[in-house]
Amino acid sequence: MNISNSVVLVTGANRGIGRTFVAELLRRGASKIYVAARDTTSLGELLKGGDRRLVPLPLDVTDVDQVAAAASVAADVTLLINNAGYAGFDGAISAPDMEDARREMEVNYFGTLALTRAFAPVLAKTGGGALLNMLSMLSLVSLPMAGTYSASKAAGLSLTRSLRAELGAQGTQVIGVLAVQTETSMGAKLPEPRMTPHEVVTDALDAIEAGTNDEVVAGAQSRSIYEAFTADPKGLQSKMSTRLPQRA
Ligand SMILES: NC(=O)c1ccc[n+]([C@@H]2O[C@H](COP(=O)([O-])OP(=O)(O)OC[C@H]3O[C@@H](n4cnc5c(N)ncnc54)[C@H](OP(=O)(O)O)[C@@H]3O)[C@@H](O)[C@H]2O)c1
Repeated sequence: MNISNSVVLVTGANRGIGRTFVAELLRRGASKIYVAARDTTSLGELLKGGDRRLVPLPLDVTDVDQVAAAASVAADVTLLINNAGYAGFDGAISAPDMEDARREMEVNYFGTLALTRAFAPVLAKTGGGALLNMLSMLSLVSLPMAGTYSASKAAGLSLTRSLRAELGAQGTQVIGVLAVQTETSMGAKLPEPRMTPHEVVTDALDAIEAGTNDEVVAGAQSRSIYEAFTADPKGLQSKMSTRLPQRA
């Protein structure tokens, strides 16, 4: 689909990769962008330029009422970007309790599912449109130092593939973005070197515009890791399995 004249909703639009999506969508001529954030005051910097195409929307993706309200307010969306994410960065065993594990599933998996269910009829009504889910290379390989996050992103990939099949009937293009460490507050906890959010976002939006209906490996560093994965999946997993949670 063309980004030009599209109507987009970006979750977690206030910072990191989400905020970069907004900048690049504006540059590519989106006609309206619902910039969704848990706390809309955190959108101040983004909104201060006064671009009238930006529409702030309060949205915690784990809040059922806010998700329903978003789908009724933003009933003209043609591209939904499920970007919001949470990572506790601990091990499955070393974490003090299961709070982060549950939150990762709530935001990364159930949040994505809830938004997509709420917006599927909206996308159908506006001609099919497109759905972009921010996944991770950790959807394919598990990193023990972010063990429960990896599990939530693996669930996200499996879900994305099912959504693609189900939404195919209404002509919705579904993209899952696979990326390695990227320079944001989340990515800062991962080893260097890191990609820029711009690199990730550019490749993801290029794929939307090219009509890709598949997973997209975004950024050069992601492509080199993906090559290692396809050449020897078990070998890459063995290497990742040495990255254990850090003890204090
Ligand atoms: N950075 C990386 O290395 C990397 C690599 C691959 C994939 N990803 C994925 O890319 C996406 C964006 O990550 P990022 O690096 O930009 O992370 P980030 O800088 O930590 O930003 C996370 C965003 O998600 C929002 N968010 C968290 N919980 C939410 C909730 N319950 N409802 C609505 N919004 C919520 C945050 O809002 P608040 O400001 O309110 O907390 C923030 O806007 C995530 O899905 C992440 O898993 C990141």
